[in-house]
Amino acid sequence: MTAERPGAVDTPEWAALASHAAEVEGLTLRQLFADDAQRGERLALEAAGLYVDYSKHLVSDRTLALLVSLAEVADVRGRAAAMFRGEHINVTEDRAVLHTALRLPQDAELVVDGQDVVADVHEVLDRMAVFSDSVRDGSWLGATGRPIRAVVNIGIGGSDLGPAMAYQALRSYSQRDLDVRFVSNVDGSDVLEATRDLDPAETLVIVCSKTFTTQETLANARTARDWLLSGLSDTGASSDDAVARHFVAVSTNAAKVTEFGIDPANMFGFWDWVGGRYSFPSAVGLSLMVAIGPEHFRDLLAGFHEMDEHFRTAPLERNLPVILGLLGVWYGDFHGAQTHAVLPYTQYLSRFPAYLQQLDMESNGKTVDLAGNPVRVQTGPVVWGEPGTNGQHAFYQLIHQGSLLVPADFIGLIRPRERVGEHQDLLTANLFAQTEALAFGRTAEEVRAEGVAEDLVAHKTFRGNHPTTTILLDELTPAALGRLVALYEHKVFTQGVIWGVNSFDQWGVELGKALASAIVPELLSDDEPALSHDSSTDTLIRRFRRLR
Ligand code: F6P
Repeated sequence: MTAERPGAVDTPEWAALASHAAEVEGLTLRQLFADDAQRGERLALEAAGLYVDYSKHLVSDRTLALLVSLAEVADVRGRAAAMFRGEHINVTEDRAVLHTALRLPQDAELVVDGQDVVADVHEVLDRMAVFSDSVRDGSWLGATGRPIRAVVNIGIGGSDLGPAMAYQALRSYSQRDLDVRFVSNVDGSDVLEATRDLDPAETLVIVCSKTFTTQETLANARTARDWLLSGLSDTGASSDDAVARHFVAVSTNAAKVTEFGIDPANMFGFWDWVGGRYSFPSAVGLSLMVAIGPEHFRDLLAGFHEMDEHFRTAPLERNLPVILGLLGVWYGDFHGAQTHAVLPYTQYLSRFPAYLQQLDMESNGKTVDLAGNPVRVQTGPVVWGEPGTNGQHAFYQLIHQGSLLVPADFIGLIRPRERVGEHQDLLTANLFAQTEALAFGRTAEEVRAEGVAEDLVAHKTFRGNHPTTTILLDELTPAALGRLVALYEHKVFTQGVIWGVNSFDQWGVELGKALASAIVPELLSDDEPALSHDSSTDTLIRRFRRLR
C-alpha cells in the first residue's frame, strides 16, 4: 500500500470480486448447504473463546478466497502490526492508535514516542483499583462521613457508551448495594432523573471526558455539582470538601480538570493515543471497575488481549475479525447492503448495538481515504439492533420479507450465570430458529403443501437467503465481553484498511458542534439577536424564543 493509493478499492482483487459477485448472483443458501453436508461445521471457527458460525452466508469457498486476497492486498496484516507497534496510523491527528496497549499484561514491553506505555497503563490501573476498592468497601467517605452508595458517571459518546454497555452486560458481577447510573444527554431531564432520588451525601460523581471540553458533559457536571452542593449546604461541609469527596475526573486534560475545580489528585488519566470509542478499557472504565471490582475488570482486559492476540497472529483465513470484516465488505460493496443488524440474545447485551453504533459508524463513516481522495465505494453501514426476542416482534418482519438486504449478527449464550427455569432454552430456540428461517425461508411449494389457500401463498412465502453470523459465547463473563468487543474493534479496523479510510478520527461531528456553539448565545440572549442563518434555521430559532 502506498500513501497515494491506500486500501484495496482500485486493485485487481477488487475487480475480481466484482465479476465474481456477478457470476454467483442467484446462489442460494439452500443450494450451498445441499452441495456440502459439512458446511455448518466447516464454515465455523472457534478462537479466543468464541464460536463463530459464518456458514449461513452467501459465499462459496472461492468467494472467501477472493475476499482474503483483498485483505492481503490491502495489507491488513501490516497495518495491524503498525497499529500494535504504535505508529501514527491516525494520520489526520498525527497520533498512535494504541487501545490494544490498554490490555497488555504487566510484563509486556512497549515504548512509543519515548513513553513506557505498559508502565503508565498499569500505574493508572493500580490507582483505579485502590480507589475502586475504597468505594466498594465503604472506606471512601463522603464529605459528611458517610460511605458511597451511588455512582453517577457523566460523559458522552465513548465516555459513556462503553462503561454503560459493559455495566449492563456485567450487572450480575456488580456489587448490588452500589447504584451505578449514567448521564450523557445534555437534555436536563437526564441528569435530573438520574439524581432525583439519590442522597448527595452518599453519591460519587465521575466526570468522564477525554478532552474535558465537551459541552454536554461540562453542562451536566456543573448541574450535578450544583445539585450536590445545594444538597450538602446545611451539613456544614465546605464546597471544596464536597467536591473533593464527591467528584473525580477521568480525562487526558489535567488543566481543564483543575479549571473545573476537581483536584488533579482525584483525576485518573489516559492518553491521546486512546480514541474515545476505544477507551473503556482505560480509566474511562472507572465506573465499571467500581461496580464489578478490580479483579473482574482485569479479567475483562485479559479477554480483550486474547482477541488482540488472535487478530495479530491468526492467518487471515482463520482470523475472526478479518472474516467478519470481509463479509461486511462483500455485502456492502458487492450486494448494496447499507445496513447491518446486531441482535444479541441476552438482555445483558441490550446496550451493545448502541455501543457498536459509535464504534463502527464513527470509525468508518468516511468518504475520503487516508490521502484525502474520494473513496468512491460504499464504506461503513448503518449499524443497529435490539435484543432478541424483542426485535422479533418489532422489526424482523422487514428482515424476513422486506425489500432490503440486512446482514445480521446473532449473539447467543450457552450458559447464563443464573438459570431461570427453561428461559435459556426458549431464548436460544428462537435464535436458532430465526437464523434457520432467514437462511432457508419457505418456498411457495412448501407453503402450498401445508394446505394454505392459493390467495395467501405469496404472503406466506419467505424467500430466505438472508445472511447471518451466529456468535456463541459459553458464558457472558468479563473476559468473554472483552473478547467480543475486541472482535468488533478489529472487524471495524479490517474494513477501514480495505477501504483505505482513517478509522480513528471523527471530523464529521465537528461541524454540528461549532454551529451549536454559535446558536447557544442566540437562544440565551435577552435581546432579539440579529440572525443570519438560512431562512429555516432563523425561523426555528425565532419560534423557539417566542414560545419557550
Ligand atoms: O462525538 C464526538 C466525540 O468526540 C467522541 O468521539 C467522543 O467519544 C465524545 O465526543 C466525547 O468526547 P470526550 O470524551 O472528550 O468528552
